[in-house]
Amino acid sequence: MANAPREQWSSRAGFVLAAVGSAVGLGNMWRFSYLTAENGGAAFVILYLGVTLLIGLPVLLAELTVGRGSQRSPVAALQHYGGRAWTPLGMVFVAAGFLILAYYGVIAGWTLRYGLMAFFGGFSGVSERFEDIAQGPDAFSFHLAFMAITIAIVAGGVKAGIERAATVLMPLLFLMVAGLAVYAAMLPGAEEGYAYYLDTDFSGILSREVLTQAAGQAFFSLSLGMGAMMTYASYLGRDANLPNGSVVIAGADMGIAFLAGLAVFPMIFALGLSEKVGGSTLGALFITLPEAFAGMGGVGRVVGLVFFAALVVGALTSAISLLEVVVSAAIDGLGWGRRRAALLSGGAITLLGAPAAWSLGVLDVMDQVANNVFLLGGGLALSLFVGWRMQDPVGEARVGARGGRGFSLWRALLRFAVPLVLLYVLWDAVPGTLRAVFDLFAA
Ligand code: PFF
Repeated sequence: MANAPREQWSSRAGFVLAAVGSAVGLGNMWRFSYLTAENGGAAFVILYLGVTLLIGLPVLLAELTVGRGSQRSPVAALQHYGGRAWTPLGMVFVAAGFLILAYYGVIAGWTLRYGLMAFFGGFSGVSERFEDIAQGPDAFSFHLAFMAITIAIVAGGVKAGIERAATVLMPLLFLMVAGLAVYAAMLPGAEEGYAYYLDTDFSGILSREVLTQAAGQAFFSLSLGMGAMMTYASYLGRDANLPNGSVVIAGADMGIAFLAGLAVFPMIFALGLSEKVGGSTLGALFITLPEAFAGMGGVGRVVGLVFFAALVVGALTSAISLLEVVVSAAIDGLGWGRRRAALLSGGAITLLGAPAAWSLGVLDVMDQVANNVFLLGGGLALSLFVGWRMQDPVGEARVGARGGRGFSLWRALLRFAVPLVLLYVLWDAVPGTLRAVFDLFAA
């Protein structure tokens, strides 16, 4: 199997849909809205836009360039351009895939459960039950079910599995989120929700902590810093326009994140549950909103079903890309067949998710480590790699692109601006994260 010809996407649109599918996920609907609401509303959106342009886009293009250029999975790709010394970074990417998917699958499992609850019985009493839904054997069972679907799709292959799923699911996801935003706009009291979401407070964004959160969110949301976009780009032909693809992917990711916020907040405020928004990061999504749906009767069941179906779909296309990083590395590096790689690595990841399925505290720490150490650190290493180590990144990125302006700016950003911003942010984020890990084990 190792010698089988490398699969490719059947079309450029197929690649873009799969990459947008990787980017758009729980990060967009779960984290972006509350970060915005908590950190200065529209001012945070502007900061986030700036961070995405300054460091997100350059790193995205860097990943696409290394992936398409090498036609290899991340471990082999870094070795190809950088020599053996860079193999460990590829291993770190694979480890990040393991870590993130392990807890991401648990949260995705909750969304699956909530979707079924909406369909079968509504959400009554959900706030008392959240802790039981989120932790314990039930949480693990739904994680297992979600992982089984993810594994089955990845085992199907690049074209017949991943691309086909994205082609069906992504348009559906967009329609669901857009429909929810339109519905939310018609609710009486929607204006208060918009005001809470976007009320502009520039003083809220001028801190290192908020910059750290914006950078972490940009990396998580764009699936950067662990080779997911690199892996997807390795299935591209040489005619693909990479700068163009980067802009489309980042634009769609931001657009859907923003749209999701326009759906979530009016619904919460229209039902007078605003005092319950704060407190827990997951609370708005898994407690407040379902309560809102429960109070809406039959309509709430439909809206709740659409909402959680959108979350499941978003989570699934992202989880697929996380697993594909690990699977492609196993295919290239160990010579395994795809099915075997998907089953064994997916199974191991499912087991690794058990602690997260049993404890919200563990899940939270895994999320912090993933974001603050793996993705931001991976992004730093990657920008240095493409900026300083790779021979001719501009020459590779230019293939298939029209025009030549902007490439030297891109390289300069990768060499100087991106590493500096990421170092500044990591300096702040890593100690706190280590403390959280320590506290977890000390507890
Ligand atoms: N981008 C996904 C989200 O926003 O939910 C999460 C993610 C997927 C992160 C793939 C990293 C990754 F490699």
